[in-house]
Amino acid sequence: MNDSAFHSVDGVMHVEDVSAASLVEQFGTPLYVYSRDALTRAYRAYADACANRRATAHVAVKANSNLAVLNVFARMGAGFDIVSSGELARVIAAGGKVSNTVFSGVGKSATEMCEALELGVKCFNVESIPELHALDAVAGSLGKRAPVSLRVNPDVDAKTHPYISTGLKSNKFGVAFADARAAYRAAHAMANLDVVGIDCHIGSQITEISPYLDAVDKLLELVEQIEADGMKIHHIDVGGGLGITYDNETPPDIGRFVKTVLDHIDARGHGARDVYFEPGRSLGGNAGVLLTRVEYLKPGEEKNFAIVDAAMNDLARPAMYEAFHRIVPVVERAVVTAQRYDVVGPVCESGDWLGRDRDLAIEQGDLLAICSAGAYGFTMSSNYNTRPRAAEVMVDGERARVVRAREEVAQLFAGESVLPD
Ligand code: LLP
Repeated sequence: MNDSAFHSVDGVMHVEDVSAASLVEQFGTPLYVYSRDALTRAYRAYADACANRRATAHVAVKANSNLAVLNVFARMGAGFDIVSSGELARVIAAGGKVSNTVFSGVGKSATEMCEALELGVKCFNVESIPELHALDAVAGSLGKRAPVSLRVNPDVDAKTHPYISTGLKSNKFGVAFADARAAYRAAHAMANLDVVGIDCHIGSQITEISPYLDAVDKLLELVEQIEADGMKIHHIDVGGGLGITYDNETPPDIGRFVKTVLDHIDARGHGARDVYFEPGRSLGGNAGVLLTRVEYLKPGEEKNFAIVDAAMNDLARPAMYEAFHRIVPVVERAVVTAQRYDVVGPVCESGDWLGRDRDLAIEQGDLLAICSAGAYGFTMSSNYNTRPRAAEVMVDGERARVVRAREEVAQLFAGESVLPD
């Protein structure tokens, strides 16, 4: 197999050893396709860099929660980072260990806390004092102790899109840096909580290491204060957020990123503590594509449109963040000349676009691959316009398996009913 999981063989895109065109023949479009090899390599880069360093990668389930994808990571011994009971259920169904799962999120309900505590999650990443009280009450009612870390907002600029930057003062996330010491004291005073760690998550699609080092410095400053107050911080969780190449970004590679962060913590004299990472996008992002068929080519006065059968409900990122995804023909055409198109879906919104001003040599009926769609792709998809969600396929060498069947229209309103009179 070629070095990259997604590559061209005689002008036809292949995913590992399988032609993308044959996948569409078998499974139709729109179709999410993941490469087991690409997922494995990305996770292994984290695992190798963490080996012998008291460091662990907890896979952020929200980026791609397909059971087969989670199972690939679980088999390699990954931990997980969840934000809901639903994600916890997926981790368990995929063979992941609850005892190696951290529970993040700004609005955990009492029911979710109860479930996670009964099942034995490793740590609750708590985001406010009211949430500490709620967790304390739940733990007390179950006669258990809850392991907690506080998500501290270090107020550093992750230099990414405002919608996915989370470490600034103006964000809803975490406890403000200035309030963190008092929040830890409050946690310490609660009868049913065990303070075990500290965490932050400064944003997503971050392409530089320096914001992480700034955040770590601020956390370590707090760790010293918290320990002076009589608590022991066993672990430092630096969150997720490492970026990938969608276009021409040049993020650090995973190994260098992990090593630089760990070396920095060591150099500051904190090497004896456990360090957690919560990667999402950097594991799955470039391990998946979305395949779609060109329904119509529609010339316009100002723009030409390639109307495809995937839409904003399948891949929301362009509509939500004006995100760029490379779009390439599955079969290269030598005889057709390229024209400039906006690649758009059939949904009734002007915001329903997947790529703008793309030079493509295509004809009606051709297949396109929307690249870097393995993270925040399917997980953010919806049924808007009563569109069944796409099928998901995992390629493993020469084999391809459906890992989620295409939805049927009848499933979409199976839970609905009309009034009886
Ligand atoms: N940990 C926490 C607490 C998070 O909130 C997130 C992502 C992660 C870890 C994983 O971050 P990653 O390594 O994937 O950057 N939908 C947006 C991204 C939202 C990220 C939300 N939090 C997008 O499509 O760009």
